[in-house]
Amino acid sequence: MKHVSVLLAETVEFLNVRPGGVYLDATLGGGGHTRKILETAADCSVIALDRDPQAIEIAKENLKEYENRVSFFNLNFRQMDEALAGRKINGALFDLGVSSFQLDDEKRGFSFRAAAPLDMRMGKDAKYDAGELVNELPQEDLENLIRSFGEENFAGRIARVIVETRKQKRIETTIELAETISKAVPSFYRHGKIHPATRTFQALRIAVNDELGALKEGLNKAAEALVLGGRMSVISFHSMEDRIVKEFFRGEAKLQPVTKKPVIPGDSETAENRRSRSAKLRAAEKV
Ligand SMILES: C[S@@+](CC[C@H](N)C(=O)[O-])C[C@H]1O[C@@H](n2cnc3c(N)ncnc32)[C@H](O)[C@@H]1O
Repeated sequence: MKHVSVLLAETVEFLNVRPGGVYLDATLGGGGHTRKILETAADCSVIALDRDPQAIEIAKENLKEYENRVSFFNLNFRQMDEALAGRKINGALFDLGVSSFQLDDEKRGFSFRAAAPLDMRMGKDAKYDAGELVNELPQEDLENLIRSFGEENFAGRIARVIVETRKQKRIETTIELAETISKAVPSFYRHGKIHPATRTFQALRIAVNDELGALKEGLNKAAEALVLGGRMSVISFHSMEDRIVKEFFRGEAKLQPVTKKPVIPGDSETAENRRSRSAKLRAAEKV
């Protein structure tokens, strides 16, 4: 199991890492970006957050040699105040979404490639799991969720077939859900470029973890905590996240966008790391 950091050099470059600076890694994951920050300037330190306790354990192990320059917090970044405790930061980094550790861990239910309970919680702070949404939401709410968070054109058909199926028997596993979705969609979509369950799984993950709500709150709090001239780098992985970041950078008087257009990975990165294909990096400076 390995997580390959996306847009590693670019993201950290925008932060203008300086000796003695204090940086916030809001999404520690395996610690790849934090390591790059620590390597960039002597004596800088990182306040590192992840809502997933397992990510904290993995990153602590990966960053052993830097343990006196990193403080680890198992927190949702919307609660970053608890970690910052009034401290100002010279830069903040968000590398959104899930890590390869989470995707590849068959027990956690993020992927439809292996049978697992429909969980999808990144951390225990999530209010419900994916199984509860799939089996208990009224059809109309399920359809809206799949359409808005999955940008799925067949949301109506998928929600209808899920509700018909769960009347017979509760949908327990990722595979059962993926098969139900496959049955609901037209044949051309079933044999298309992406698995027909991809968008529905994305929608459920976003809803379970309230990813868009957390992002808005996290961006606000990070902008507040930055020193003047401090930078913020954000990597997003789908259009809804990118829109929130773009609008926040444009609308927030305290921030000046540094990237006119989002930075995207080059051909060699996308060839080596599939996960990087949808990545978009935006950076802004506090003014
Ligand atoms: C793409 S990975 C980060 C990878 C990391 N930059 C690296 O190079 O190894 C995203 C991480 O952010 C965490 N995460 C997502 N949303 C979060 C939130 N609202 N608060 C805290 N952590 C979050 C996930 O648990 C996951 O470990």
